[in-house]
Amino acid sequence: MSLFSSIKKAFKNENGVGTSADKLHVDLHSHLLPGIDDGAKTMEESVAMIKRLTKHGVEKIITTPHIMYEFYRNTPEIIQGKLQETREALAAEGVDVQLEAAAEYYLDDQFISMLKHKEPLLTFGSNMVLMETNYIQDHPKLMDIFFELKVLGYTPVFAHPERYMYLQLTKDNYQKYQDIFFAGVLFQVNLMSFTGYYGNQIKQVADYLLKERMIHLVGSDIHKMEHVSVVHGLKRSKLFDKIMELPLMNNQL
Ligand SMILES: [Fe+2]
Repeated sequence: MSLFSSIKKAFKNENGVGTSADKLHVDLHSHLLPGIDDGAKTMEESVAMIKRLTKHGVEKIITTPHIMYEFYRNTPEIIQGKLQETREALAAEGVDVQLEAAAEYYLDDQFISMLKHKEPLLTFGSNMVLMETNYIQDHPKLMDIFFELKVLGYTPVFAHPERYMYLQLTKDNYQKYQDIFFAGVLFQVNLMSFTGYYGNQIKQVADYLLKERMIHLVGSDIHKMEHVSVVHGLKRSKLFDKIMELPLMNNQL
């Protein structure tokens, strides 16, 4: 084997382009409506990110602005209004994509009160509700809230479980993940977690969840243009082929 072909082979093995890059048609979990959370700041930025996101087979985007009482007091009216504006801007630019919006609910007192008062939540798919928690501290009512959502007829989806420090015990003990997963909560893992973008510990958990096939949905969690590049980088890797071997629910949304 010539030196050139050895190098080429080595490169292909490590960084070879995967074959699944265009197989994920529904992008879930992102912050692409302008000016209402820590995602896109302007309509120009929103349109530019969405335009680029559609380059790799993405036909539908379910964007999920934060609803977090302390920082982002978004309501269904605010989100639906911004969604409409963004759809119009995309149409004016000739961007061919189906844009929908739900929300990423933060587990706080306000959210608990919304459940108590049976306020309708923003959902996607089959009555799915995307929920996140504090990254560091365990919430004492976490399991109760998942249960409550189910009682109310929703399907709870746990946003990026791999990112919570309170769940990442040691590499050999991921019992808490098993507990939540087998309680019937859907796991939405972030694609960027597989790249090491959020750090090695988070990548290790994402790899574990992939190995154990404990992933129902993948999300991009795009907040800015840099994230689109990271997601596209992963989509060109062989690891992405492995992720796409999972029975993901994305394309059914
Ligand atoms: Fe998010």
